[in-house]
Amino acid sequence: MKARIQALVLQIHHHDHCYYVLDSPEIGDAAYDRLMAELLSLEQAHPELLTPASPTQRVGGTAAQKFSQVTHRLPMLSLGNVFDETALAEFDERVRKLLSVESVTYVCEPKLDGLAVELIYERGAFVQGSTRGDGTVGEDVTQNLRTFRDIPLLLKDLPGVPARLEVRGEVFIRKAAFAKLNQRREEEGEPAFANPRNAAAGSLRQLDPRVTATRPLSIFIYELGEWSGPAFGTHLEKLSWLAELGLPINPQNRRAVGLEQVLEASADAGNVRHGLPYEVDGLVVKVDSEDARLRLGQVSRSPRWAIAYKFPPVEEQTVVEKIDVQVGRTGALTPVAFLKPVKVGGVTVSRATLHNADELLRKDVRVGDHVFIRRAGDVIPEIVTVILSRRTGAELPFVFPDQCPVCHAHAVREEGEAVTRCTNLACPAQLAGRLRHFASRTALDIEGLGEKLCEQLVASGLVQAPADLYALTLSTLLKLERMGEKSAENLLGALGRSKQTTLRRFLYALGVRHVGEATAKTLAEHFKDVRPLFEASAEELSRVRDVGPEMARALFEFFHEAKNRQSILALLEAGVSPAPPELVEQSAFMGKSVVLTGTLALMSRDQAKEEVERRGGRVSGSISKKTDFLVAGDAAGSKLKKAQELGVQVLDEGAFAALLKPVAGA
Ligand code: IVH
Repeated sequence: MKARIQALVLQIHHHDHCYYVLDSPEIGDAAYDRLMAELLSLEQAHPELLTPASPTQRVGGTAAQKFSQVTHRLPMLSLGNVFDETALAEFDERVRKLLSVESVTYVCEPKLDGLAVELIYERGAFVQGSTRGDGTVGEDVTQNLRTFRDIPLLLKDLPGVPARLEVRGEVFIRKAAFAKLNQRREEEGEPAFANPRNAAAGSLRQLDPRVTATRPLSIFIYELGEWSGPAFGTHLEKLSWLAELGLPINPQNRRAVGLEQVLEASADAGNVRHGLPYEVDGLVVKVDSEDARLRLGQVSRSPRWAIAYKFPPVEEQTVVEKIDVQVGRTGALTPVAFLKPVKVGGVTVSRATLHNADELLRKDVRVGDHVFIRRAGDVIPEIVTVILSRRTGAELPFVFPDQCPVCHAHAVREEGEAVTRCTNLACPAQLAGRLRHFASRTALDIEGLGEKLCEQLVASGLVQAPADLYALTLSTLLKLERMGEKSAENLLGALGRSKQTTLRRFLYALGVRHVGEATAKTLAEHFKDVRPLFEASAEELSRVRDVGPEMARALFEFFHEAKNRQSILALLEAGVSPAPPELVEQSAFMGKSVVLTGTLALMSRDQAKEEVERRGGRVSGSISKKTDFLVAGDAAGSKLKKAQELGVQVLDEGAFAALLKPVAGA
């Protein structure tokens, strides 16, 4: 048993490495899920064999009160900056002089816009991770770093790995993940992060590792910390050794011989910059020879052997054509500037958020103004400043409305809040926003129910509350403008599928203020069903792990409001059935599509269907490429053949029962 568990741990780590570090998976999701399901069930049956390095233990422990401090054995230095070629040439000259050589070999690495961390491995296992802090003392964020799928919990067992290995790297967030995270925050009524750096820092410094686990963070390793092993010849040799151990190293790093090639590398980097999946704000130019690094040493807090060569920020000029105020699902009024379209770093920008009334006032943006805009973190455009010298005097200051621009109800700004809100719960903009949230990918995941369609459904009076969605029919949908038969059918299909959901998604979909995915998960684990939440007192709610008094009050008020209760009961009545967490969490069937065929000996078809659905899976009648599992009982015929042709994974009744089991007993 012990050997099997160890083998599974190593296999899963290997596949994580292939998927998350090398970006080239060797097996499909279903096969991976099966390995994970087997490991989970073995660990549950034999808790004494569970180790902290197991891939099932990435998200563990509970929220901390505060981070403890970690003193770096070797201080974490910072880098000097240069902004132009002349200053870079001076750096190169200084290095050449100190080393008394004609030409120096460098390594050019993209300068990632994130935050530096240190990871400690003992006997190959990840044991501690900390932020840079002030360079000497940082914060212990081990539990949060463990949730990164690209950080190996175990290093490859190669000769020469010291008993204690210290490595350093940059935690960052990819552009796509950043955009998605901000979209999710807006859906949740939380302020968006201004740029990827803030998003990465804010996500890493969460007291609850379960929150960090929902944030798509990444890391590249670029240096060692304290090192007492035999010296490496060059930096690149060191990096490829670290890569062999399974650590993520940026594949963009490259060697450049002499200043000339550094400038070439920089021009190339400037060109590929906007095509890279992450934000880069310059190049880090490092001396490659380790011996030369030792001779160069450091001045104050920066090494003499490296420099940051910063790209100029991507800013453009344009004109503000209109300022509009948009209303979100929480009623928040957000001012948005509509701009004369302009290309910024390869992307056409025609809108910029002005965040809130204070921001608008501070920047004093007016219609007709010439402005400098910048894509902060390369994604969300923002107005940097108004070019006052180009004002004609005809530009009028924008007056922030005290009414909702959609329903004209009072808009109020509560004390200490930056946000102004529409006070009318029945405001069509809020309704549409709530529907959109309900349908969003991390909520009930109703494909095809986008912003525009939500607005149409509300405006036409067809939908007033989420439950009304489930009463939509083909003929009512077809009455909507621009709605074709195919889209209507697809939407009805997506609505039907969305009924089989999980309690966590369901609670999140309700859109209670301050309740994000992590809290929804905690609540689902605690209450197991939605009805007990109707009965819970504010006191009881505040005793739930990580639920503070403010959130407890918001929850209490939400579940005691008769309208909300009605709305929830109507959803259940409409057939929405949220599965309790213990069935879903660890099931290999979560989100999977399953086809049943042949005769099962242990249960009826209906029972099998119910078991799959209770675990968040879907049972369908016909096989396609999208099918994840075929459960084949006795005398399975054509479906079995088709599954084999399509390469769909086939489970006999024993394998099916085994995949159901770990959770049924839990
Ligand atoms: S080397 C002593 N390499 O830039 C050398 N730093 O401005 C220390 N950074 O604190 C770091 N990408 O957070 C290094 N490829 C890279 C980097 C990098 C980003 C950050 C790092 C550091 C800061 C210094």
